[in-house]
Amino acid sequence: MSSTIVAPSILAADFANLSQSIATIEASAAEWVHIDVMDGVFVPNISFGFPIISAIRPLTQKVFDVHLMIEDADRYLEEFCKAGADRITVHYEACRHLDRTLAAIRGMGLKNGVALNPHTPVSLLRHMLPSIDMVLIMSVNPGYGGQSFIPYSLTKVEELRAEIDRQGLPTLIEIDGGVNQSTGAQLVRAGADVLVAGSYVFGHSSPLEAIRGLSELDRSAGRLV
Ligand code: DX5
Ligand code: ZN
Repeated sequence: MSSTIVAPSILAADFANLSQSIATIEASAAEWVHIDVMDGVFVPNISFGFPIISAIRPLTQKVFDVHLMIEDADRYLEEFCKAGADRITVHYEACRHLDRTLAAIRGMGLKNGVALNPHTPVSLLRHMLPSIDMVLIMSVNPGYGGQSFIPYSLTKVEELRAEIDRQGLPTLIEIDGGVNQSTGAQLVRAGADVLVAGSYVFGHSSPLEAIRGLSELDRSAGRLV
């Protein structure tokens, strides 16, 4: 049994009581906290930045999984590192020199990640996979929580799983958008390692139970290898 890594997205938390939401995550089976940074340029929404990340850093030991939906991420990598990020994921569509950006993130001692919008094929990353710690497949168009899961994301997960296994790499597959217990089960069966969930977790009558349910999905079941 290999349990699924759950990364609750604080985008869906109550910002007036953020410390309470972090305490919930801290007490839960989630291993990571998913932190969505939006610049109003790459995506049509603005969320929050460094001050919020630094403010919540002392409240939890969990891994800070920072998802940058911003243009020109290179300018801000150091600041995100200082604010407390453990992992930084940038968008394929927003990086002109992706290889350099990924090396810079690893150079700071952090894990890197590449996020793909729904329209971006996973095959584009084939040659780069050894330089990538995690691929984030967006299963909604980025910018907002609470959207419906795009079904063809499952095929992307299957294709990427096959390629990662073919190359024998430890690269993780994370999925973000419209994840609940039902889509989560399908995604894990298709080969996902990490599930991001915002509205499902924080809209649940028991966020702790919602997180536990997702974490208990067995990653080793249903895999070809
Ligand atoms: C969307 C963000 C997601 C968002 C997911 O652009 O990247 O992390 O919080 O929200 P749900 O889980 O509600 O689809
Ligand atoms: Zn996200």
